[in-house]
Amino acid sequence: MKSKILELNQEVEKYTANTLKDLENFRVLMLGKKGKITELFSDFKTIPNEEKREIGKLINDLKNFAVNKIAHLKEELETSSGKTYDYDLSLPGYPQKFGSRHPISLVKEELFDIFKNLGFSIAEGPEIEDDWHVFSSLNFPDEHPARDMQDTFFVKSEPEILLRTHTSSVQIRVMEKEKPPIRVICPGRVFRNEAISARAHCIFHQVEGLYVDENVSFADLKQTLLFFAQELFGKDVKIRLRPSYFPFTEPSAEMDVSCNLCNGKGCSVCKYTGWLEILGCGMVDPNVLENCNINSKKYSGYAFGMGIERIAMLKYQVKDLRMYFENDLRFLNQFSSVL
Ligand code: DAH
Repeated sequence: MKSKILELNQEVEKYTANTLKDLENFRVLMLGKKGKITELFSDFKTIPNEEKREIGKLINDLKNFAVNKIAHLKEELETSSGKTYDYDLSLPGYPQKFGSRHPISLVKEELFDIFKNLGFSIAEGPEIEDDWHVFSSLNFPDEHPARDMQDTFFVKSEPEILLRTHTSSVQIRVMEKEKPPIRVICPGRVFRNEAISARAHCIFHQVEGLYVDENVSFADLKQTLLFFAQELFGKDVKIRLRPSYFPFTEPSAEMDVSCNLCNGKGCSVCKYTGWLEILGCGMVDPNVLENCNINSKKYSGYAFGMGIERIAMLKYQVKDLRMYFENDLRFLNQFSSVL
């Protein structure tokens, strides 16, 4: 009996635990219902009476030793230095999905970069506007058929409050506040009462450009737009200006770029013309300058306006405008690498 107690004593003394689970197994092995130390107590009945005192003390000491040692090891394992985990920290983690930029934002920012390099700054204005800033100041007379070019959502009549149909309204707000030289681009959402289809939407985005100074000429406009097209579509792109009409510019033009898919040879995207229309432009009508208290004898200016969706469609070959608004991740994820 004594040698058995000694043996167990050594076993407890030598024992070290790596995990709490190991330690618990060891506790059961020693002190559990059928544990080695517990069994000593059952065997105790069989020893002769005269030895009981001595052996009893040895067994009790052994038990206390084991209890204390286990408690001590447990505390050690539970403190941070000795803590072990039931899980494997070396396993690879779950992949984290990153969001991606919306194609409209990507194009918008590319336009910003191009025009910032030419000295343009960014100006913004309200989406809910009055008739003056969207129409009257821009030379759309009351009842003039040119107002029908842009089917308008009205919020209120008398005075007329409406959702802006174009960002040309921001031109006016800038010219009312600032003195020439003025060189701004005005990005923003615009609203038109149009049936939604693959090619039209009731909400879309525009970027407007305005340059007003002494001696600004149509040649300046053309050169700026050529530079812009080359930055956006590459050095080989060609541009052409077709005469057009806008009430706020005189003369007015629309600009086409050579089709970036077929290099001008003709394909289904450019409807076999070799050209894609991307913006409207012209020399700011003197009436518009005067409406903003800018002396039209001294100053002249050019302006241009384009739809961001349209440019994004050409750049990324998106055939249906509605995709920009649906927030379908299968569509949006395709732009995650274009940071
Ligand atoms: N505001 C015009 C539209 O929404 C676009 C436009 C055309 C803007 C010619 C201009 C411009 O500044 O000069 O259709």
